Amino acid sequence: MTNIADEIKSRCNIVDVIGRHVTLKKMGANYKGLCPFHNEKTPSFLVSEEKQRFICYGCGVAGDVISFVQRVQNLSFLEAAEKLAGEYGIEWQRDVFGAEAKRSVYYDINREAAAFFYRAFRSGRNPALAYMAGRGINDVSLKKFGVGYADGEWDSLHKHLTGKGIDEKLLLELGLISSSKGRAYDKYRNRVIFPIINTRDKIIGFGGRVLDDSLPKYLNSSDSRVFKKKENLYALNVTRQEIAKEGCAILCEGYMDVLSLYRFGVRNVTASLGTALTTDQAAMLKRYAERVVLAYDSDRAGQAAAERGMDILRDAGCKVRVLRMTGAKDPDEYVKAYGREAFLELVERAPSLTDYKLSAARERCDLSSTEGSLAFLKAAAAVLRDLGPVEADVYIRKLAAETRVSEGAIRRETWGGDGDARGSASVRAPLTPARREREADADFGDGSMLERNFIRLMLQSGAYIDRIKPYERVFSTPAAFRIYSAVAALCAEDGEVDMRKLEDALSPSDRDLLLDILEKVRLADTEEAVFTECVNTLRLSALAGREQEIIRMLTVANDEENKERVEALTKELINIQREIKEVKGR
Ligand code: UTP
Ligand code: MN
Repeated sequence: MTNIADEIKSRCNIVDVIGRHVTLKKMGANYKGLCPFHNEKTPSFLVSEEKQRFICYGCGVAGDVISFVQRVQNLSFLEAAEKLAGEYGIEWQRDVFGAEAKRSVYYDINREAAAFFYRAFRSGRNPALAYMAGRGINDVSLKKFGVGYADGEWDSLHKHLTGKGIDEKLLLELGLISSSKGRAYDKYRNRVIFPIINTRDKIIGFGGRVLDDSLPKYLNSSDSRVFKKKENLYALNVTRQEIAKEGCAILCEGYMDVLSLYRFGVRNVTASLGTALTTDQAAMLKRYAERVVLAYDSDRAGQAAAERGMDILRDAGCKVRVLRMTGAKDPDEYVKAYGREAFLELVERAPSLTDYKLSAARERCDLSSTEGSLAFLKAAAAVLRDLGPVEADVYIRKLAAETRVSEGAIRRETWGGDGDARGSASVRAPLTPARREREADADFGDGSMLERNFIRLMLQSGAYIDRIKPYERVFSTPAAFRIYSAVAALCAEDGEVDMRKLEDALSPSDRDLLLDILEKVRLADTEEAVFTECVNTLRLSALAGREQEIIRMLTVANDEENKERVEALTKELINIQREIKEVKGR
């Protein structure tokens, strides 16, 4: 199935396809037009030719060429795919089930090969066993991951599999053997074998590591009928339950990182296997966990790969943090040198994506010079531009406090024009769904956006006090809670809020916060809109949280065992998704 989808996506240019329905104008790297999925007068519909995706910042709809056709013509996935395939002359294997049946032949061959390698690894002393023992991987972990051994002969596997009547052609297709000048030989020789197994427990490919320093260090299966490197992550067959349970995945680069961490009891791990992380892989991870800790190698190449991976993960909706390792080149080395606790502490302390990017920028610039400060300001602005305004505000304050650059200057650099216009207060719509979620999480030292808006509303009109009461849990910052309580108490006593009495009731620092809110939070005759936006933000974040929780539970639920529960969860999920749609539609 995915084959045809990929084929379509690579052959139909999204700009052409969408261009038939929407007048697109080139704007920098992207194309812009009026969104066909909601009514609008100013264009917020973007098409990226490079990414072959579209997104509407007005209504939040996003997708690829197939989902565009699905939506705009009200078709199912299959119908849309078929339509595009027809238009672009892409050959379409209609027989989807036949294709899956055909695939099982390949799975069986891979399984037979894995069993062969595994037996070789287990059959008494051999160099691979010694090698892995030397790397400190215990037997339980070796077995768990099905580690095997390819011996040094040119035709062990070939002989074994063809001896079972398997066609050499299929072995070539799977990359288990290679051929040169008409002679076939085993691709993996003298290597430790790591089977790559998908979440349906099918063996889809292999990685093989040399036992010494020769090159290439790893040989991997190339893409085949059953192996799509870009769509799989290593070890999820073993670790996805643990990842879902923790709500957090530790994403490494290599096989050995996974095995080593696992062996030390850190089990919510997976690896992208040296390739650049893809959007498919990110989406896959997101199904199991919302939080991802990137634990790539500490060398330049690893860090560069991490920089690319983190944006992809963020765009997939993950909360990303980035591990910073010193004194070891990768998680494998680190956990062996310093132990499990030290590694977990690194995970604990891993900075958020934004903090990571800002400190990377800081390290590149000399903040004691004007040029350095300016360069840093530019780099920081680029980072902040990706954030929602509320979250950006938190960082702007922090940055202003620690650099010689003023808040206003940082704002101007980030959003251009009059920095104050996008200043710290007013609620700004429209927000993309992902941003809304992030906004709800952002927290000021002196009151979150929501707290500040609510307090401002209560002071504007006493009528809001009762309406805000059901949401008083929002007041999680102590100072904001004290102000809220004081306002509510005064109103209960006098039926109105006397500002002088309120100021008297507060400590000097709480009073400062109050004044700050009065000064900076501007409602501009849109109280009701601000209130609705706040309440919607809260509801959305609660709903989205529950949605993710259910999806994760469903992902790991065993549906035979627990049919009723799965049904109940599915029902709840449908209701929640309907509700989310409603709230977003407002
Ligand atoms: P590393 O070189 O960091 O390997 O490459 P590693 O997993 O830490 O292995 P050890 O500790 O040296 O044994 C990271 C990943 O990149 C891919 C592999 O998937 C590897 O796990 N890679 C690396 C290759 O595919 N081919 C190579 O030649 C090297
Ligand atoms: Mn490594």
